[in-house]
Amino acid sequence: MRAVKAAWTGAPAPAVRLLPRRLPVEQLPKGFEYPQHGIAIGIDETNLEPVFVDFESDPFFLIFGESESGKTALLRLIAKQLCERYSPEQARIVVGDYRRTMLEAVAPSHLLEYAPMASAMQLHMDAVNTVMTKRAPKPDITPQQLRDRSWWTGPQLFVLVDDFELVATNSGNPLAVLVENLPFARDVGIRFIVARNQAGASRAMYEPFMQRMRELGAQGVLLSGDPQEGDILGGVRARPMPPGRATFVSRKRGTPLVQLGWLPEQR
Ligand SMILES: Nc1ncnc2c1ncn2[C@@H]1O[C@H](COP(=O)(O)OP(=O)(O)O)[C@@H](O)[C@H]1O
Ligand SMILES: [Mg+2]
Repeated sequence: MRAVKAAWTGAPAPAVRLLPRRLPVEQLPKGFEYPQHGIAIGIDETNLEPVFVDFESDPFFLIFGESESGKTALLRLIAKQLCERYSPEQARIVVGDYRRTMLEAVAPSHLLEYAPMASAMQLHMDAVNTVMTKRAPKPDITPQQLRDRSWWTGPQLFVLVDDFELVATNSGNPLAVLVENLPFARDVGIRFIVARNQAGASRAMYEPFMQRMRELGAQGVLLSGDPQEGDILGGVRARPMPPGRATFVSRKRGTPLVQLGWLPEQR
């Protein structure tokens, strides 16, 4: 090893820059700052530069982590960034939140529906499905229309679901009605951001909604979790990490380690 060092005449490796334990949201670009990149959710380990998620090109985003790893905090951050990125005419948000930990996460101007239990969730997912079916491209659609998405009008819909393990249970899943229409999500302006506890996540992959999201190339983050659950997303395993630290399983940028922005809870 010493011999290698002595023989090495190149520049020394740059000092490893460490991700902070807490990244105040003020240190991230605001939702409206880089519309062409989407919204910033954190910074990466390699350059300490913002990482963005663009739901217009990638409509599916999955969040896995054990309890207290930062799932709800990330959903709150995403909600804030979306409300800054889009006007209420451009985007509305539907929230499924059986633990009621996101009660004030979405600005009233953008909140379309809030579902704290299965009956409400079913009603709203049926409505989302109706929108998807109405907006689905007809067989006679022209390539030009497809490119500029001019055959439907209205806001994009963001479906934010926290604690998916409470939503999809043995007695049913209100999101199941959407499975058939999921391949159209990008074209019809419907986006899904789903957080699930990491415990039991490998089994839950065979749940049809989750499985279809993954087949359609969902991106996402793996917050702290047990490696023994196996590959969770993109062939990556979870591992123990501080809250708000995650592996970003991205379609374009590999799987960097990121620190997610921290948005204090409103009181
Ligand atoms: N991005 C973050 N940066 C720093 N600390 C965080 C971050 N996200 C969460 N935490 C810490 O972890 C705690 C639990 O976060 P929470 O989002 O409620 O976890 P979960 O929903 O996974 O149970 C928060 O109260 C906070 O102290
Ligand atoms: Mg939570």
